Amino acid sequence: MEVHEVEIVMSAVSETQYPTTGYPEIGLVGRSNVGKSSLTNVLINRKSLARTSSQPGKTRTLNFYEVEHQLYFVDVPGYGYAKVSKKEREKFGVMIEHYMTTREQLRGVVQLVDSRHAPSADDVSMHEWLRYYDIPVLVVGTKVDKIKPGVRNKAESLIRKTLNMDGETELVLFSAETKMGKDKVWDWIESHIGG
Ligand code: GTP
Ligand code: MG
Repeated sequence: MEVHEVEIVMSAVSETQYPTTGYPEIGLVGRSNVGKSSLTNVLINRKSLARTSSQPGKTRTLNFYEVEHQLYFVDVPGYGYAKVSKKEREKFGVMIEHYMTTREQLRGVVQLVDSRHAPSADDVSMHEWLRYYDIPVLVVGTKVDKIKPGVRNKAESLIRKTLNMDGETELVLFSAETKMGKDKVWDWIESHIGG
């Protein structure tokens, strides 16, 4: 998709604030700092519409990005960030879980994992959880520019194995720096929002 028009529609802290246009939605989940905002910016060809930061845990709300009056990317708060209070984390958890299990417009979720390391226990639970609820999922291994081309296959197998991915679930290695993988991610998204 050639993206020309994007606006942040809503930073929602509760369901009453979710958009009501009915456009399909694609969620983005992953640990804090994994590169969700960076992926969003690359997909929509913007330098910094989605706020990125080196301080983990900055994104605290569900952020809906409206793309070309056709769909929303929904940037979901990072999990596994220890510094927010337990109570606050639980509150986010409930909001995310409710959104992902009840939202009719949600067509699929892009799960981001850091391709430099084996997926964490949180990543594994998240993947299991998405599969349990039958939510279509694309796994994206981020920051692939930071690993040598020669070990990328190995990184890919490690992600597949650790997450217990089934053969049908797609995995794309991605870099926000080089934009590697961008078209594949778009292809997956377009095939899940069509019709
Ligand atoms: P939260 O909003 O805190 O959950 O983080 P996030 O998942 O949105 O991560 P964000 O996109 O803000 O990226 C975190 C840091 O990683 C930033 O310093 C980015 O510049 C860096 N980063 C993200 N993607 C890449 C990538 O593909 N390659 C490299 N080298 N750095 C990246
Ligand atoms: Mg972010």
